[in-house]
Amino acid sequence: MDTLTDEDFTRMYQYIQSHYGIDLHKKKQLIVSRLTNVISLQGYDSFHTYTDDIVNGRRPDLISSMLGKLTTNYTYFMREEQHFDFLKDTILPYLAEKHKGNRSINIWSAGCSSGQEPYSVSIILKEYFDTLGGKWDTRILATDLSTDMLNIAINPTYTSESLSNIPDAWKRKYFTARPDGTWTVSPILRNNVLFRQFNLMDPIHFRKKFDLILCRNVMIYFDAPTKDALVKRFFDATEDKGYLFIGHSEGLSKTNCPYKYITPAIYRKET
Ligand SMILES: C[S@@+](CC[C@H](N)C(=O)[O-])C[C@H]1O[C@@H](n2cnc3c(N)ncnc32)[C@H](O)[C@@H]1O
Repeated sequence: MDTLTDEDFTRMYQYIQSHYGIDLHKKKQLIVSRLTNVISLQGYDSFHTYTDDIVNGRRPDLISSMLGKLTTNYTYFMREEQHFDFLKDTILPYLAEKHKGNRSINIWSAGCSSGQEPYSVSIILKEYFDTLGGKWDTRILATDLSTDMLNIAINPTYTSESLSNIPDAWKRKYFTARPDGTWTVSPILRNNVLFRQFNLMDPIHFRKKFDLILCRNVMIYFDAPTKDALVKRFFDATEDKGYLFIGHSEGLSKTNCPYKYITPAIYRKET
């Protein structure tokens, strides 16, 4: 395999940034180390030909695996527990009152990876609305760029480490153990999540506005203008008084953020 020239590196990172928001302009070494094997396994003997095929849109089938190598899909159940406590204690009582007429709430897990985030939200929703009584439509939209991750989410098999934050009672209720020690998700949760491929760089045209958008540990890859523009699109897609969750290690620009800051990693639309 020949080396990645500065010119091909520039073409590659500019293509990835403009199409997927992911900023790799300081990551030449990462691109070389993570992609060399993948590229040769796919039959290429030069970065130049591979870069040509990618930036000219000749191999859309290679994009998902390329981005999978260059970013992380790491996630687990009940990650950043503070969000789930806030959802249960503050947001759901508010939404139950707000939507008592149509009994329907609308939540989007944007950048859901292999599904642990939307399934975790589903558990909290099931527990809350089952206690409240009545029939509620709590279906969640969950999207990601990566078809590989979405395939895991749709046919879920998780390790016990991924479930280590789930109490035993919930494991018995919402999961089934497999003989090999992995776990699958009960139909009750699976039927509550609608998985779709969606690139967060695209315009947001979902039918209804959202009461809550979770976009956690996704925007870490984006540069400031890309992030600001996405937050603005989220804002337009949020119900008045709806919420946005981001990862606790992330921040939003104080000057450009249209949401009101509530508490770390939690924002609200107040117009
Ligand atoms: C680290 S995971 C976060 C999973 C989960 N939200 C959490 O906090 O555990 C980041 C996910 O963002 C997705 N992603 C990155 N860029 C994206 C884009 N432009 N559009 C949609 N998803 C994207 C990746 O495919 C990956 O699955």
